[in-house]
Amino acid sequence: MAAKGAYPSFSSRLAFIIAAAGSAVGLGNVWGFTYVAGANGGGGFVLIYLVALAFVAGPAFMAEMLIGRMGKASPPTALGKLQSRAGSKLNWPTVGWIGLIGTLMVLSFYAVIAGQAMYYGLVALEGGFAGWGEEAVTALDADFKADPVSMAIWSAVFMAFTASIVSFDISKGIERAGKVMMPLLFLMLIGLVVYAGQIGDWGRAASFLFGFHEINFSSRLFLEAVGQAFFTLGVGVGGLMTYGSYMGDDVRLPRATFWIVAMDLFVALAAGMAIFPLVFASGVEPTAGPGLVFLTLPNIFSAIPGGAFVAFVFFLLLTFAAVTSSISLLAPTVQRLAEANIRRPVAACLMAGVAVLLSLLTVYSFAGGREVYPLASFGLDGMTAFDLIREGVSNFILPLSGFAYCLIIGWSLSREDVRTALPMAEGRLFTLWYMVVRVIAPLAIAALFIGAVIG
Ligand code: TRP
Repeated sequence: MAAKGAYPSFSSRLAFIIAAAGSAVGLGNVWGFTYVAGANGGGGFVLIYLVALAFVAGPAFMAEMLIGRMGKASPPTALGKLQSRAGSKLNWPTVGWIGLIGTLMVLSFYAVIAGQAMYYGLVALEGGFAGWGEEAVTALDADFKADPVSMAIWSAVFMAFTASIVSFDISKGIERAGKVMMPLLFLMLIGLVVYAGQIGDWGRAASFLFGFHEINFSSRLFLEAVGQAFFTLGVGVGGLMTYGSYMGDDVRLPRATFWIVAMDLFVALAAGMAIFPLVFASGVEPTAGPGLVFLTLPNIFSAIPGGAFVAFVFFLLLTFAAVTSSISLLAPTVQRLAEANIRRPVAACLMAGVAVLLSLLTVYSFAGGREVYPLASFGLDGMTAFDLIREGVSNFILPLSGFAYCLIIGWSLSREDVRTALPMAEGRLFTLWYMVVRVIAPLAIAALFIGAVIG
């Protein structure tokens, strides 16, 4: 136990980097990136995504961690402290509270998808998939989604796992989970890439992902790319702010940011190189959408040598990726409750319970409510509760909070304060980042919204 009253902290620089990378690397890299890139034509989308990472989401990512480091508290509290420091009249904690709501919204669908990944892992462990054929695979997905009770139970299992990790002190829970799962995740991923290279169509996959294709520029494409960049780095709900508040003074944030973003990008591209070679070799389309991971891939697993084992490794990888992210989504509310003297295990169970309740909306959207569009009368026809939650978070809460973080770091706090907190010498790199945070990222986000409204 940490001494009572002492603010929690990671035990080393590396521990912080692993935890933050664990937060970044998640379902978004494997499930999200591959289907969004696939559906948007590959290479061209990847290019815009890279630009969005480097000039919008990446700098905002550093800004969020920096706010946590400077405020050393849960997001609303940290933002309140910085507000007084800046002497601003705006209510900064509101941004923190919206973020906390965002963590629960993300968890609510994350848990359902991670639950399905866990269930598929179990099926694979029992020797499933091998030799199954398309009908059986389709039926597995359909049966899972036709059964709201088992979907809810799997979400609850996943959230219980998440809560049990977050219950512990930082160094024993969140930190250890990252140290165990992240190296295994990398090993499994590399194994899958090598395997896919041997039996799949590596060349076509590479040219699909990295080759230059005609790009169909549209505001929708930009919104998808920026939304995906924010989601994959996990910027905008206060998870990174919370991890930032636990980081030691010896962490050089700019360098740490570079490595975390690099790892996140590596995993997304490697996941693409594990999945698309198999997709192309099987002659199916890469544009399958959200079903890519739960329909297209299992179908492929059923036809390849060692399919059950490969499937097991793949779904275990997906589960690990999800867990190291979901703990970063539960940590902010738990930290806030800890400030109200609620013990971590109690707080973790409580918030996980709320997430499970909210997950019923996604469960319903996948099951009986596939064609129920709650906000149809507000012009949002065709969107299920799940669509509304997912797009609401990715395309609104995340970029808007990122916008606020950038303005806080770029304009409200003094340049000197920011530079010493990073810490970073006054040099070309600092000047560049500072300008991006002050001007380029906020303008890009504003343009995006204006584009989305008029276009
Ligand atoms: N980055 C994770 C992924 O790619 C998900 C995630 C973690 C996240 N923290 C977040 C998404 C905060 C949005 C906001 O799967």
